[in-house]
Amino acid sequence: MTTKKTPDPFSSRRLGVLISGRGSNLQAIIDAIAGGRLEAEIAVVVSNRADAPGLALAKRAGIETVVLDHRAYPSREAYDGKLVGELQARQVWLVCLAGFMRLLSRTFIDAFPGRILNIHPSLLPAFPGLEAQRQAWEHGVKVTGATVHLVTTDLDAGPILLQSAVEVRDDDTPDTLAARILEQEHRLYPEAIALVLDGGVTPLPQR
Ligand code: GRF
Repeated sequence: MTTKKTPDPFSSRRLGVLISGRGSNLQAIIDAIAGGRLEAEIAVVVSNRADAPGLALAKRAGIETVVLDHRAYPSREAYDGKLVGELQARQVWLVCLAGFMRLLSRTFIDAFPGRILNIHPSLLPAFPGLEAQRQAWEHGVKVTGATVHLVTTDLDAGPILLQSAVEVRDDDTPDTLAARILEQEHRLYPEAIALVLDGGVTPLPQR
């Protein structure tokens, strides 16, 4: 006799990946799972933009995609509530922001306490916000990098899980620097996800 297993919401390794654009970090997660470096399953990829190139990467890998256009919702809370519903309906345990260009409200944060990750292209707390690679280059720092952190309602400010340093070369442009940081992002994100799924991070109370 075979029984269909319902995913246990507290021990599941089901991921929900949120994107807005290119999706190269999504692809790195897909590759890490396929290559046996990350034991997990991507239950769904959600984009707030219908034209996000990353959606095609998900489809190619046979992953369900959902487009939720934020412009169709009257408030951030209304949008986030819908987003939470879509993820919970698929028993998502860990939410991975991968170039998702939206701030999350408490409605969302409280639904996944300590279970939302983000990747950012700088050594936080330096250079939060947009174009972090260019910010670092313009500031003239000699070392920058990538950070995976837990998400709170404050932009790019949650507890840090893993970081990787990247040297800034004299002949770098913002683009060459961003490309080397991206290589590190693709290595770091699957590693951080594995760390959380394996219980290496105790969920912290949210501020
Ligand atoms: C990455 O640089 C990530 O660190 C930042 O947004 C970018 C997303 O790139 N949060 P991609 O869509 O994963 O290629």
